[in-house]
Amino acid sequence: MLIGVPLETAAGETRVAVTPETAKKLKSQGHQLFVQSGAGLKAAAPDAAYAAVGAEIVDAPAALGCELVLKARPPSAEELGLMKPGATLVGMLNPFDREGLERLAAAGLTSFALEAAPRTTRAQSMDVLSSQANIAGYKAVIIAADRYQKFFPMLMTAAGTVKAARVVILGVGVAGLQAIATAKRLGAVIEASDVRPSVKEQVESLGAKFIDVPYETAEEKEAAEGVGGYARPMPESWLSRQRAEVAKRVAQADVVISTALIPGRPAPKLVSAEMVQSMKPGSVIVDLAAANGGNCALTVPGQTVLQHGVTIVGETNLPALVAADASALYARNVLDFLKLVLAKDAAAVNVPMDDDIVAACLMTQGGQITRKG
Ligand code: NAI
Repeated sequence: MLIGVPLETAAGETRVAVTPETAKKLKSQGHQLFVQSGAGLKAAAPDAAYAAVGAEIVDAPAALGCELVLKARPPSAEELGLMKPGATLVGMLNPFDREGLERLAAAGLTSFALEAAPRTTRAQSMDVLSSQANIAGYKAVIIAADRYQKFFPMLMTAAGTVKAARVVILGVGVAGLQAIATAKRLGAVIEASDVRPSVKEQVESLGAKFIDVPYETAEEKEAAEGVGGYARPMPESWLSRQRAEVAKRVAQADVVISTALIPGRPAPKLVSAEMVQSMKPGSVIVDLAAANGGNCALTVPGQTVLQHGVTIVGETNLPALVAADASALYARNVLDFLKLVLAKDAAAVNVPMDDDIVAACLMTQGGQITRKG
């Protein structure tokens, strides 16, 4: 099968869907690769590295004109115009973006959005949300440490003692857990909040303190159990008690890393303008939910702003700032997904709808949106 790997053109995107490592594996499975010149350059994979494993270096029309196209982000209108009706597209295609899916359907593509894979053990190796959120959690702490004008660890020096930084993590999914682990390695004192009760043990096992907000009604408890491992919107009664607890911690914090998300909805607002005002000058907020509107009321998506003396980082694509490893992990996710739809030496993509992962990821086929839910 002829597989195309275009250069990503979305603003700020540095990742690539196939690395020389996965290109080599696809070649060994009997497939031919057309890699657009420069596709991997920002992810430390120059054209020569692809050529060395037998890929052909081509231009954009050739890469996008393949029967199977592997991308990181959804294609632009221009890129869609270069794709063949009936071709297959695999990528992070924003399953909740109905208009985007309509464009893919109208272009006649069979498309798979890897973000829609179920959170099951079998799907773990192709879980792009996890592989990329893990990187975002790490990078958020590195950015915070860079912006913060003090040390993270407690230090006793001849010139006096430096206090450890107090870090508050809001939302402890994959990104939040990695943020805790990274901040801990740097020596910070960490507190964390989440709606899901199962998280408490994980937070404590990483050496952080869980901000307990007990459930007072059956409705609160039920909402907190979530659905499919994901959070659901919490009742206002619980949220207002959480806000009060979080407000106390945020006022004491040097760094806040917020990662709270509810799939398909705007991010919950957890840090109000008043809370930002209560923080010490020089504090830093890194809002990982910026692309979904932000957890902080003063976040400006895509920008870093200074508000009431607090630096608020609204970076919307943190994994792209760790391009090489983000690509390495994403490309392995893609390769693992392909095992479900592309046999060795196959000349066509297969769509086995009895496979729950394939069925969940299939967004469009035969000119229609096939996404469930
Ligand atoms: P996410 O990115 O959707 O959300 C981040 C975190 O924000 C979640 O922990 C969520 O509970 C929390 N949150 C939502 N509203 C909040 C609020 N108002 N206040 C505080 N926190 C709030 O989550 P992610 O990282 O995608 O993980 C979702 C679930 O999937 C988790 O239960 C995780 O353990 C599970 N998972 C399972 C895998 C598997 O079994 N294969 C792989 C990866 C994750």
